[in-house]
Amino acid sequence: GRVLLAYSGGLDTSCILAWLIDQGYEVYAFMADVGQEEDFEAARVKALKVGAKKFFLKDLKREFVTELIYPAVQANCIYENVYLLGTSLARPVIARGMIEVADQEGCDFVSHGCTGKGNDQVRFELAFYGLKPDIKVIAPWRIPEFYNRFPGRQALLQYATEKSIPVVQTASKPWSTDENLFHISYEAGILEDPNTTPPADMWKLTTAPEDAPTTPERIAIEFKAGLPIKVAVPADAKEYTDAVEIFLALNALGRKHGIGRIDIVENRFIGVKSRGCYESPGATILRAAHVDLEGLTLDRNVRALRDQFTTVAFSRILYNGHFFTPEREFVTSAIPTSQRTVNGLVKLKLYKGNVVVEGRESEEGLYDSQQSSMDELGGFEPTDATGFIEIESIRIKKWAQANIRKGQGS
Ligand code: ARG
Ligand code: SIN
Repeated sequence: GRVLLAYSGGLDTSCILAWLIDQGYEVYAFMADVGQEEDFEAARVKALKVGAKKFFLKDLKREFVTELIYPAVQANCIYENVYLLGTSLARPVIARGMIEVADQEGCDFVSHGCTGKGNDQVRFELAFYGLKPDIKVIAPWRIPEFYNRFPGRQALLQYATEKSIPVVQTASKPWSTDENLFHISYEAGILEDPNTTPPADMWKLTTAPEDAPTTPERIAIEFKAGLPIKVAVPADAKEYTDAVEIFLALNALGRKHGIGRIDIVENRFIGVKSRGCYESPGATILRAAHVDLEGLTLDRNVRALRDQFTTVAFSRILYNGHFFTPEREFVTSAIPTSQRTVNGLVKLKLYKGNVVVEGRESEEGLYDSQQSSMDELGGFEPTDATGFIEIESIRIKKWAQANIRKGQGS
């Protein structure tokens, strides 16, 4: 059989590549460019040297931004109140890229190097099946012959020597990372003790807030239908309007000002807890601006329904790897309608790890400064509010009276 392997260039997937060949498979290697810092050419050379018959590199950055990242921004997606879902967001585009190549190249099998304890195995495989139900998956870290043979890093290193797999002797970092243009994650290794503070030199995508410039920087983000269409950076006399460039510009700003670091313990889909650290510089800025503009431009009840249903459901769908499903189609179909009025401009100050909103404007007209003013009458009579409170209090008074009768007034 022919296998398309999600290849990273690292020790694990290089050993998996050689092992699949040992098992009699013909192996094609696949890499996705989702904006991670990577020597793709070195990885190509290595994959072919280890024995891959072909190597495929797909640039998926634009679809990653426009099809995954931006809908998540529009819906204010967030997992367990803190995690902006950077790894989860990249999986659907990577899986789709793989299935396209598998189809085109006649691969009956796809394979990956995810462990049997994580979210990514679930995300990749459910996405594969959601796109190509008859695809066969080889997950070596869940195959006893594989994981018994390679109980630890030493065994992998020894096998690498046997197979003359070049092992790049970078002083291996005591944690594992996953990087794309939205974020980087750090998990495992020394981070598994949730009380171990990560060393300062772990963080890769952002400056430490204490080392960030002592002069605040002002920028403005313009939105149309909840999507950023222009970022103005006056200090550099620059404006960005392309979807990918906007995101990259916000990343650069976030990096410089130390924005978007978190250190959390989260609940994985399979039920185990996991400690992870993340840097999402651009995404953190964009989220702050988008949430703010909704305050000015979004109807109250639309907002409440969206928060309760779309935001919560879409975040969980992304985290749990349910992107290619009917519920995802259902949930995302409501996003454009919810964002029709989210048009306008937000002014921000970036300063030592903080995103501070300094003002916002919109022509949507939901905000009426006369109506909202404490200093003037407008739109309705003060006595109307007396009636509103009167009616609203009917059942509350009943409840209070009942409590007093029972002698349990609060
Ligand atoms: N815990 C995060 C998530 O589930 C990050 C996963 C990182 N994945 C990896 N293969 N290193 O989205
Ligand atoms: C892995 O288990 O391969 C990485 C972590 C995760 O998928 O949650």
